[in-house]
Amino acid sequence: MQQAPRDFWNDRYREKPGETSGKPGLVLSQFAGPLEPGKALELGCGRGDDALWLARQGWQVTAVDVSAVALGYASDSAIRAGLAGRVQFEEHDLAETFPTGMYDLVVASFLQSPRDWPRAHVLARAAGAVSVGGHLLITEHASRQSGSEAAEDTVHPRAEETLSSLDLAPRHWRRLCVCAIARIGTRTEVRGETVEDNVIFLERTG
Ligand SMILES: C[S@@+](CC[C@H](N)C(=O)[O-])C[C@H]1O[C@@H](n2cnc3c(N)ncnc32)[C@H](O)[C@@H]1O
Repeated sequence: MQQAPRDFWNDRYREKPGETSGKPGLVLSQFAGPLEPGKALELGCGRGDDALWLARQGWQVTAVDVSAVALGYASDSAIRAGLAGRVQFEEHDLAETFPTGMYDLVVASFLQSPRDWPRAHVLARAAGAVSVGGHLLITEHASRQSGSEAAEDTVHPRAEETLSSLDLAPRHWRRLCVCAIARIGTRTEVRGETVEDNVIFLERTG
């Protein structure tokens, strides 16, 4: 039987406790860097590098993950960095429960799990948590990466396909970027390789 996301990710984080760069994702820093800080929600925050970076930029962050192990690392890092007052960590299996509130920025970077979880539904809820005038930033693998733990037959949609799966009303969203970008991989298994990410960056207008 396939593992539940909570067990899968807790095991993974326990196996690789120190695997973190301490740096924000490239897409996040490039796209969110110029935004005026407000309230941010990060879905699938893992060890918290992105959440801490947002907090350092002045955002008040709610950071969510299904893994209590990852949240433990992230919360320790926030305390060490003196940012505990700017980041609130919440444990959710986003397929079941979702944080409350509306946000000026909602981020989901590489939010993935073993197959058969309602990713499009979760990302649509993410869009629903963006305030008018706020932004949604989704980053995902555009193709299979070396050393990937995803199932062999995992489908990698194009950015346009991911966007259509959210079923958003076009009149309420401005498309700032819906594209694939190439970057140099940093994770151990792909270090030095060129990898492609899909980026979906939208502004809510209504
Ligand atoms: C590939 S990691 C990405 C972590 C981080 N966002 C990054 O960019 O490095 C995917 C993260 O999503 C979390 N996740 C997976 N399924 C989830 C679910 N159903 N609910 C909440 N978080 C989930 C995992 O625990 C993991 O931390």
